[in-house]
Amino acid sequence: MPIPLLQLVQVAIVTGISSHLIFKRAEPRVLPALGMVCALQTVAFGYIYNDTHEFLHASIASFAVISALLFGLFTSIAIYRLSPWHPLARYRGPTLAKLSKWYMGYWIAKGNRHLKLQELHRTYGRWIRIGPNELSVDDPAAIRPIYSQMFRSLSYQGAPQAADALITTVNKDEHALRLVAWTKAFSIERLKHYRTSAQARTAQLLELLAKKKETVSLSHWISLWAIDVMGDMSFSGGFETLAAGKDAEGWMEVLHMGVLFVGVLGQVPWMRDLIALAPSPGPILTFQQFAGKKVEETSRKTGGNRNDILSIIQNDTEGKVELTRLQAHADASFIVLAGSDTVSEAMTALMRYIIDDAKVQQRLRSELNSAFDGPLEDMDASTLLKLPYLDACVQEALRLVPPVAAGPPRWNKDIPTQVLDHVIPASTTIAPPNYAIFRDPRNFFDPEKFLPERWLGGITPHNVDAFVPFCFGPGLFCARLLTANLIRAFSVSFPNDFNVKIFDESYKEHNLWVHDELLVNLEAL
Ligand code: HEM
Repeated sequence: MPIPLLQLVQVAIVTGISSHLIFKRAEPRVLPALGMVCALQTVAFGYIYNDTHEFLHASIASFAVISALLFGLFTSIAIYRLSPWHPLARYRGPTLAKLSKWYMGYWIAKGNRHLKLQELHRTYGRWIRIGPNELSVDDPAAIRPIYSQMFRSLSYQGAPQAADALITTVNKDEHALRLVAWTKAFSIERLKHYRTSAQARTAQLLELLAKKKETVSLSHWISLWAIDVMGDMSFSGGFETLAAGKDAEGWMEVLHMGVLFVGVLGQVPWMRDLIALAPSPGPILTFQQFAGKKVEETSRKTGGNRNDILSIIQNDTEGKVELTRLQAHADASFIVLAGSDTVSEAMTALMRYIIDDAKVQQRLRSELNSAFDGPLEDMDASTLLKLPYLDACVQEALRLVPPVAAGPPRWNKDIPTQVLDHVIPASTTIAPPNYAIFRDPRNFFDPEKFLPERWLGGITPHNVDAFVPFCFGPGLFCARLLTANLIRAFSVSFPNDFNVKIFDESYKEHNLWVHDELLVNLEAL
């Protein structure tokens, strides 16, 4: 006696609901899950066809059964996520965010996650739920406990890639082993070597800018300078975008696509296996292939005799990690990503604020002129790193426009974690929202204002625990070097028709910043 369709559908709904209990504990990867759905559809089709011998009827009925099963599963998931039994039920936040990670994926794609998080914290308070299993906390006191106890979530592996770079390594032990060589690559001794190449690129940019009589896009030139500097430091050059006047190979375009891609897909890392099946490899893979080609090209030119970050991390044995060729290419692309865009964004923001305030520009120039009187190559690095007003301007630019605006997310896997007076349930992702914290009046006086003086003391509130932009030594040295030289060489101003407000409003955050060009007039001093 065949089971009537209505009964089959009811059984499917109940099965869907029950399967949630299993998937809650052991979330399947997307491909096996899809395979399971196809297999079930085939079984349902076979069962119904065997009974009716009608192809169309069996197709529609089996489709209805599978839809009922998925309906049961998704309804159960949705109810659970909104229910008081969910481990994060006590945290307030938008209903859509509690239901799905696509909520934050949408704001990342739109480029407004930084503003959305700021708004959500103002509405819901310090601890908020921004995903089914994700929290955002804007309490500066929580930053240290979070980063000292938790490690990276799978969101770092959102996009298909040929191999893990340091930054996408989510296994803590493997990461620690790989980090040994990186630490060596940033030793004091090595930093001196990178400074020389940064100085050469800075001199090249100054010479180029000195020839420009018309309005220039400073953000464009800073970006080319940063690519060339990072290319030199990481794998002995080969970019020469400054000489070409453009990023002819399209590194920045692929990088920005890649970061947006990772940003959105990082919210739903289970999609990665599906994306990997697409005919086009996707921007991250393309970026790694780009970097790989560049590494091979440079190695051929230098006969493998290089003295750069990549050669150090490839040849280090102390970390007991021997990088594969693909891992080396992945790390090379990471250096370009970690170094060039962060530094060029920090520089662009810094220049935007210095140019906007003639008094700041003048005070900075006076400090620089009293510290240095010789040419660029005589600029002493230790003096440059100790100039209080320059340092204050750099910190202030990083505060207002942090190159990484969303705090790097952390995950506690299967161990509940104590953060202040909260016990974070296992399997929770948590991040401090850097942009919102840096512009919070509880942390910084008049926070929307560029006020370098706050870093020199006497202005409160000034909560240094709230300021964690993360930054590696060579990056900020390069930014200081270029700023010092630009300000000493030129009087910099905005063209009459440049609207700073429109420029500020053009900022979109897709993990990295995208914005209008910073147009300036330069007058040689
Ligand atoms: C203003 C400049 C910079 C900012 C704001 C910045 C920001 C960050 C952030 C937020 C992280 C943490 C990533 C995470 O754990 O998710 C990080 C890590 C890192 N950055 Fe930077 N960065 C800057 C410049 C640089 C430069 C110039 C380099 C080197 C070429 C660099 C190399 C690294 C490395 C090696 C890591 C560690 C990655 C890991 O542990 O997997 N950064 N940076």
